[in-house]
Amino acid sequence: NLSTTVGAVSLNSCIYNASGPKCTTKEELENIGKSFSAAILTKSSTLELRTGNPSPRYFENELGSINSMGLPNQGYQFYADLATSMQQYNKPYFISVAGLSLENNLVMLKHLNQVDNIDAIELNLSCPNVPGKPQTGYDFERTQQVLDQVCKFDRHSLGIKLPPYFDLIHFRQMADIINQYPIKFVTCVNSIGNGLVIDVNTEQVVIKPKNGFGGVGGDYIKPTALANVRQFYLLLRDDIDIIGSGGAKNGSDVFEHILCGASAVQIGTQYMREGANCFERIEKELKNLMAQKNYQSIDDFKGKLQSI
Ligand code: DHB
Repeated sequence: NLSTTVGAVSLNSCIYNASGPKCTTKEELENIGKSFSAAILTKSSTLELRTGNPSPRYFENELGSINSMGLPNQGYQFYADLATSMQQYNKPYFISVAGLSLENNLVMLKHLNQVDNIDAIELNLSCPNVPGKPQTGYDFERTQQVLDQVCKFDRHSLGIKLPPYFDLIHFRQMADIINQYPIKFVTCVNSIGNGLVIDVNTEQVVIKPKNGFGGVGGDYIKPTALANVRQFYLLLRDDIDIIGSGGAKNGSDVFEHILCGASAVQIGTQYMREGANCFERIEKELKNLMAQKNYQSIDDFKGKLQSI
């Protein structure tokens, strides 16, 4: 039994798609609906439709991915309008919101607050790819100002997606801020921002925007993702669920995220690589691993990482 909860929302399994890959168009979201993904999470949306950065803007190798998409999306109203038809898949529908300003976020959240059949909103405080727009999650004062304003729209469960942190004091500072607000879940982590992948043969960068700098995902980032899940699991209020995201491509990786404290785990780079069949495969692998270990439910091992 892989059932879990994200905030007040019940999920039949603990594995679903990360915001970003293949969740922008209606067809892509329907594909997630038809798959074993436990929920449908949209691409981060903005006030208006965006075509994003010039291509090539996504690259992968055996170790992971780098992207600088630039927030291509259909505009938040498109995702709001899909909410009712997404109900046919009998799983939660989550909308990711990534406004280019606090004002834009407030407009979107206010409108989405009136829309039925949205199960939660993942407010993205960590997009690294829009030139001139710093990641809110790396500015603690700004994060506090944003949370002061956005927590007013509370009809749908509100969660936030954070960038990875690397210093122990930063975990503590961010957790102290989040603990002051009625946030229901925290997704750890977004890509490691502004990495650089290089092709030795051509002596070139592999993506076009920002001279090749982009958000790194996949195997490259699993230890960082696990550290962030663990730290926030230990530091945040017990009623705030942690959603793991980063480097999970098989059942064992998902198990590790849950051991660190994740209530659910998102699949990003591997979903991009493999398509929606990944959800059924990873679910099976996790079930097998749990059976070997005699675990019946994810609560049997969630957060129970041991020190030596
Ligand atoms: C994009 C990338 C991100 O990591 C994110 O959180 C939001 C948007 C993008 O480039 O489209």
